Amino acid sequence: MDALTALATRRSTRKYKAEQIKDSELEIIMQAAQASPCGKNAYSDLHISVIQNPEILKNLSEFCGKEMGTPQFSPFYNSPTLIIMSAKPKADGQLVYVADVGCVMENMQIAATEIGLGCVYLWAMLNRIPQDPKFVETLNLPEGFKAISALALGYPETPLVERSLADLKQSRIQTQIIK
Ligand SMILES: Cc1cc2nc3c(=O)[nH]c(=O)nc-3n(C[C@H](O)[C@H](O)[C@H](O)COP(=O)(O)O)c2cc1C
Repeated sequence: MDALTALATRRSTRKYKAEQIKDSELEIIMQAAQASPCGKNAYSDLHISVIQNPEILKNLSEFCGKEMGTPQFSPFYNSPTLIIMSAKPKADGQLVYVADVGCVMENMQIAATEIGLGCVYLWAMLNRIPQDPKFVETLNLPEGFKAISALALGYPETPLVERSLADLKQSRIQTQIIK
């Protein structure tokens, strides 16, 4: 699959098989993350945590579900792998670190699509508990970092349908071309 086909094919996956992804697949996702652009080359202000431990995932799911008022609902859809992207907020208040995280997230999503994995970008769960000390402790984040976004990752229950960019609705984002 080429990059444009992967862009068109990507869809948020919210049903996963329980089977864990292969280490070789995770490695590709991590390589794709490393290929992301980053404002001012500040890669050292970014941090990736990959959680595949079933007990930690179960506790996290229960904790986040409760915080969100939906204790039975897994905010990451019981995916067997959960990637948490964290960043160090800038001293000058610039929000570029959030954009940096977004770039890494998208690279990982496109790579996942290309190798037949399902994924979904998660914000709600982290937005509710960004500073929870127990959660931050689990992630073992460097001092001053905070969790910004998460990616559920796994084999989709239903494989994604391959699409081309031409198949997509072109009006999702209002666009004006000024010549
Ligand atoms: C910044 C961001 C935050 C999102 N947060 C969530 C979330 O917390 N839970 C969820 O199920 N989907 C979340 N999504 C996925 C969007 O709902 C989804 O991308 C959008 O509806 C378009 O559908 P598609 O991804 O299938 O094209 C998020 C997407 C982005 C980019």
